[in-house]
Amino acid sequence: MITTVEAVAQLLAQAKRVAVLTGAGVSAESGIPTFRDAMTGMWSRFDPFELASPEGFARQPAMVWNWYAERRASVGKAKPNPGHFALAEIERRVRHFTLITQNVDGLHQQAGSRRVIELHGNIRRVKCSRDGGVKDGWTEDGEVPPRCSECGGYLRPDVVWFGELLPARALQEAGSASLDCDLFFSIGTSNLVEPAASLPWTAHRHGAKVVVVNPTDEGQRRGPGIEYLLGNSGEILSQVVNAAWHKTSKATHS
Ligand code: OAD
Repeated sequence: MITTVEAVAQLLAQAKRVAVLTGAGVSAESGIPTFRDAMTGMWSRFDPFELASPEGFARQPAMVWNWYAERRASVGKAKPNPGHFALAEIERRVRHFTLITQNVDGLHQQAGSRRVIELHGNIRRVKCSRDGGVKDGWTEDGEVPPRCSECGGYLRPDVVWFGELLPARALQEAGSASLDCDLFFSIGTSNLVEPAASLPWTAHRHGAKVVVVNPTDEGQRRGPGIEYLLGNSGEILSQVVNAAWHKTSKATHS
């Protein structure tokens, strides 16, 4: 049901073990289009499968590399927004806190979140498409995509593509956090893409309260113990943190 910032702040202040799943909506206020929005934007001129799958990369490695280079450049210009900073503050205040993200933009880390479980990888990192080794960097020596210095295979973005498995350790840690928490926030995600989409409901089945933060509750589950805070995560999370810990007194009209 629709709830209030104050009620969620109380839940947060009392919670012992908090887990959070974020999606593209958290980065929307940093100017990074969400996936569903972007289906009309950056993806509309391409077939997503051709751009984000091992098969598409094998067919057109240079096009895929260049498309990710374009996205990496725009992500590089993006800055964390108040929602990212609020989540970094919650991590500092709640002893048992786990942040799980489907985003690949690295903005949580930029905002000061220290332990971030990246379910879908990170667009700022690359790995070898042959030996899978993650690379610290690469040299743009003219060949596109650049090649792995160890084995000569093409380098590719270290993100999860269609048809690929999620990083096993990240998925295992995310699963444990959702089983273990007493409060689970699902923020800025359409909750459509498995296995991430099930995490909030796994937590709910194990007795956690679930709070969904999203401008809409469309397509989300409903039921006792599932609360909604409708609106933009940047504004809402700042309000929740203020209400939980800053106790900003209401402006009294003199
Ligand atoms: P979507 O684009 O599917 O969903 C974005 C969600 O954010 C929607 O529910 C919006 O209503 C919500 N939203 C938009 N603006 C918001 C705001 N300011 N504050 C809060 N919420 C807002 O993106 P994801 O759910 O992240 O997977 O997509 C999940 C996965 O689907 C992605 O990680 C990607 C894609 O396939 C891979 O790349 C493997």
